[in-house]
Amino acid sequence: MRVMEATSYQHMSELAADYLLNKIRTQPYIVLGLATGGTPKGTYDRLVKDHRENGTSYRNITSFNLDEYVGFSPDHPNSYHTFMYENLFGKLDVTKENIHLPNGVALDLVEECKCYEEQIENSGGIDLQLLGMGSNGHIGFNEPGTSFEVNTHIVELAQSTREANARFFSHLEEVPHEAVTMGIATIMRSREILLLVSGESKSEALKELVNGEVRESFPASVLKMHPHVTIIADKNALSGVR
Ligand code: PGA
Repeated sequence: MRVMEATSYQHMSELAADYLLNKIRTQPYIVLGLATGGTPKGTYDRLVKDHRENGTSYRNITSFNLDEYVGFSPDHPNSYHTFMYENLFGKLDVTKENIHLPNGVALDLVEECKCYEEQIENSGGIDLQLLGMGSNGHIGFNEPGTSFEVNTHIVELAQSTREANARFFSHLEEVPHEAVTMGIATIMRSREILLLVSGESKSEALKELVNGEVRESFPASVLKMHPHVTIIADKNALSGVR
């Protein structure tokens, strides 16, 4: 794992956007794995700005998002579909058919998980997966204790995750209890992974990732077994590491 140090959230977002842009420009048919949340938002803002100013094209990219809440239709204001269209896809020249997120209201969610895996496989697999990390070490919505062997699956969200995400809702009770998420095995099949970590609230988790052992009770630790991982972390997130 290569660690790049950023001075601030803004700087982390700049470095991440430059990293992605370099890939997108040299590989216009790239298959991206994308994430939602506060961490990648600044990166997406910079991709949008670059698209406006420099015209970088996303017409031929394919994307797969990590996860979606169960029970939220794509047009729900708090769905990850909405987040992605408001913050990124709606502001770029993407080809809608190439954009994928799990369907949280599929009638058969188990079948939905299988289909999502097949779609990833049929696209040739994910070239570059962008990840954030929960303060409990989750990646995607794979909470502590999740087997490293699982593909896209349905998960029950940890209470700490629901509380962390409540800031995007009016009340904690509105935060769903379940989600569909790429599994750890799905994430690990990506050819390359870019993990972003920002803020003091993630410093313990980053310390554990850098210094700790690989174990299922700390999902992000699996990344140590991946051959091509870059971490871009800001100073506050790195405060516990040295
Ligand atoms: P955040 O979430 O970017 O909103 O902190 C990260 C995560 O939970 O994976």
